[in-house]
Amino acid sequence: METRVIPVVREHLQKEDFVEAAQLLRDGELVAFPTETVYGLGGDALDPDASRRIYAAKGRPSDNPLIVHIADTDALPVLAKEIPASAWELAKRFWPGPMTMILKKREIVPDATTGGLDTVAIRMPSDPVAAMLIRESGVYIAAPSANASGRPSPTRAEHVYEDLNGRIPMILDGGPVPIGLESTIVDLTGGVPMILRPGYITIEQLREILPDVMYDPAVVGRVRNDSIVAKAPGMRYRHYAPKGELTIYEGDLAAVVARVQAEADAKLAQGYTVAVLASEETKDCYKGLTVRSVGDREEEATVAAHLFDTLREFDRMGAEYIFGECFPEEGVGQAVMNRLMKAAGYRIVQV
Ligand code: TXA
Ligand code: MG
Repeated sequence: METRVIPVVREHLQKEDFVEAAQLLRDGELVAFPTETVYGLGGDALDPDASRRIYAAKGRPSDNPLIVHIADTDALPVLAKEIPASAWELAKRFWPGPMTMILKKREIVPDATTGGLDTVAIRMPSDPVAAMLIRESGVYIAAPSANASGRPSPTRAEHVYEDLNGRIPMILDGGPVPIGLESTIVDLTGGVPMILRPGYITIEQLREILPDVMYDPAVVGRVRNDSIVAKAPGMRYRHYAPKGELTIYEGDLAAVVARVQAEADAKLAQGYTVAVLASEETKDCYKGLTVRSVGDREEEATVAAHLFDTLREFDRMGAEYIFGECFPEEGVGQAVMNRLMKAAGYRIVQV
């Protein structure tokens, strides 16, 4: 299958650019498209065959449910039932935007989309390309991140192409995404609302609407803990991982830099390809090493925006060992560290 890449300009969207993509979706085919968080791999959420195609294209286990993307809150009661008042308040405050709600599903949503669960994940993206694609196609779009399963999520159309070329018919290229990390997932189906995945919308922001919201225990652990069952099935799998072995170092920044330099020097001396994941503040402190700054420590959003891209760059350079700094867990930093710890397979060294 030839994968066509169709450029779209966010600021000047033309309906004509969406005609073929919309038809592909209505025909049960797949289209990758940008959202404000990461690129998604979309298919008709109500068509079980389309969902099966998504799993096949990504190489993703089919018990890992998909997020259904909508363009209007009217879709909520079509897809979900027993919707609590808090869900409407969350929608009003955070939609369109990077927040996903788990609700009880209606019959209309096939098991193939929800991985057999009786709940459904729903999100209304704010990206104009995503919104236009949903509207023009007239379908609810089931979309996981458009990476091959296990690889870092795609923040550019090129990343999607890298992973899925030949496996899907079309990619809408809207340029790099603004946020760079997947949406915050909130489960509203239990007694206490739970954050199943931290994202750009922080726990502090959610508490304005949900004062008692908590992190799922599987989210906050700093070690791999197989005895805690993650409620979001996707959080169980090895994720976001670069091909090389990533270890992250935590502690006083100057001490971390010294330790990373020493560990990297040692691997370099043994002949390995080595890279350092650093920040704007530290990138010039390393000597004789291949260093990439992932962003500014004072502005967590810059780190979020470049983390996945940087992990993919390490793959392209063939890095066998990657030594990285940790980042402050404030605001979106919580989501940054969640992804970084997973990418490192929880290899975290206290300095
Ligand atoms: O920002 C995002 O959320 C992106 C863009 C494309 O919208 N999508 C995304 O999808 O990250 P994906 O499939 O990579 O991650 C969805 C996560 C998985 O961890 C999955 O297990 C969880 O959501 N999930 C989906 N439905 C669920 C459900 N009914 N109950 C619990 N977790 C669910
Ligand atoms: Mg994903």
